[in-house]
Amino acid sequence: MPEAFIRISDLRKTYRMGRVEVRALDGVDLEITPNTFWVIMGPSGSGKSTLLHLLGGLDRPTSGHIEVAGQSLEAMDENDLAVFRRRFVGFIFQSFNLISSMTALDNIIFPMRFARVPRRKRRERALSILKRVGLEDRAYHRPTELSGGQQQRVAIARALINDPQLILADEPTGNLDTSSGMSVMMLLSELHRSGKTVVVVTHDHRMTQFATHTVELLDGRIVDGKNITPAGNPHPGEAVKTDGSPIEDKNHE
Ligand SMILES: Nc1ncnc2c1ncn2[C@@H]1O[C@H](COP(=O)(O)OP(=O)(O)OP(=O)(O)O)[C@@H](O)[C@H]1O
Ligand SMILES: [Mg+2]
Repeated sequence: MPEAFIRISDLRKTYRMGRVEVRALDGVDLEITPNTFWVIMGPSGSGKSTLLHLLGGLDRPTSGHIEVAGQSLEAMDENDLAVFRRRFVGFIFQSFNLISSMTALDNIIFPMRFARVPRRKRRERALSILKRVGLEDRAYHRPTELSGGQQQRVAIARALINDPQLILADEPTGNLDTSSGMSVMMLLSELHRSGKTVVVVTHDHRMTQFATHTVELLDGRIVDGKNITPAGNPHPGEAVKTDGSPIEDKNHE
């Protein structure tokens, strides 16, 4: 087994709203090895987005530990976290989050504004990524001049511009029709095959065909985890826990 790329232990996030306490995450443990494709499912309110936000350093846990590529997120100050997000993480959201006044190309270049890369190189890189997502002929379109699927592909290109190792996507196909959704999934799968670690929160069961691992959350806890890679699991389709050990067959307990 390769070294874990991400190690999450006893992760908890509690929101307090007056006297009401919501345990959005209630003790999550997960080990994510490099170059895997994780699909996180679970009902509304089960903590999926919360988990993704903590993983990407967009928010901080109430307690517990997250380590990414050997770095402890809790040890980072806001500045370190911002650098971590910029270098390591590409985020993709359900609602694309593109800047409407900018062209596709400028949206993609935007996250490079702090990188020490000359303007011409930025443009070249953004154009080559646009090509990779199949939109080289839409570089000068603004978001309103693109279809939903095209906007999401621009958002994916933007997530890739700093060449992050980790791609986090929260319901990336939630606002798309069936076929645009499939092309976004295939693009994410291609990123996984090219060596990225991809974690997708989705309600779309079609996504599991691309997954190496699936996780089911319920009330802030992992209730089911499967390793479905032939490489990680010598018996494909047979359930194993997220630490790689087999899940006992409940019928034989
Ligand atoms: N900022 C917040 N303040 C208070 N409670 C919050 C906050 N964010 C999330 N919660 C609560 O935490 C729980 C988990 O929310 P989360 O957004 O992670 O769910 P989810 O699994 O992503 O749901 P969905 O499928 O609807 O997107 C919910 O009960 C939610 O109401
Ligand atoms: Mg959510």
